[in-house]
Amino acid sequence: MGYKEVNLNLGCPSGTVCAKGKGAGFLKDTSALQSFLDDIFSYSESDGMKISIKTRLGFSDPEEFYALTDIFNAFPLSELIVHPRIRTDFYKGEIRKEYYAYALEHIKCPLVYNGNIFSSSDYEEVSRAFKSTPDPVMLGRGLVSDPDLSGKLKGFSSDTDLQKLERLHDTLYHEYQKVMSPDINVLYKMRELWTYWQVLFDGKERDFKRLFKAKKYPEYEETVSRILLAE
Ligand SMILES: Cc1cc2nc3c(=O)[nH]c(=O)nc-3n(C[C@H](O)[C@H](O)[C@H](O)COP(=O)(O)O)c2cc1C
Repeated sequence: MGYKEVNLNLGCPSGTVCAKGKGAGFLKDTSALQSFLDDIFSYSESDGMKISIKTRLGFSDPEEFYALTDIFNAFPLSELIVHPRIRTDFYKGEIRKEYYAYALEHIKCPLVYNGNIFSSSDYEEVSRAFKSTPDPVMLGRGLVSDPDLSGKLKGFSSDTDLQKLERLHDTLYHEYQKVMSPDINVLYKMRELWTYWQVLFDGKERDFKRLFKAKKYPEYEETVSRILLAE
């Protein structure tokens, strides 16, 4: 299909994904992982396809990361993104910084940090912890919560740009409508996003109650305009 790079996600903690031995579930079976990588790298080398990996530290114990490091180092990865948690951490708790420090020392391919960056001060804290500014970084929930986060990390902006948030909202809302129906299915998606955005709008609890209950587009749209306009 014309893609030049495939990113293998060994980070997903979801129960249904891990139960099939995929996502972070793949980290449990290192010999299967090794032969899978043997297989896809032999294909990618002949085809000129780059392969990068996103990983957690392990499935149930962060010490699994040492063996995983040896496996990753045996292949010419174009990039390794490390989310320094284990599967059973899901997205909660402190980042296991000492294992990312180990990755910085031992991983041979370009390394990318991912985890818990929601603000410039989080980014500065990570930089202090590793005594270097991680660049590039991968942003997850922080970028969904604030589409201006990357601009802030680069020092281009300081306040949350609500117009940018509105553009992100409108784009997602209209794109979901093209591929989903009826209204409620699109609104389920939008509700999930509003759980990230809600924190930006103090004192709007009644509007949010209505927004999370809306079943049809007109009611949803009217509530969204009220939330965004009054700011
Ligand atoms: C709801 C949700 C869906 C995600 N879907 C994907 C995905 O499809 N592919 C992927 O590589 N990571 C996915 N992730 C993981 C994020 O890319 C990221 O690794 C994770 O949120 C941790 O980074 P953060 O602390 O910056 O959010 C997902 C995370 C969440 C919370």
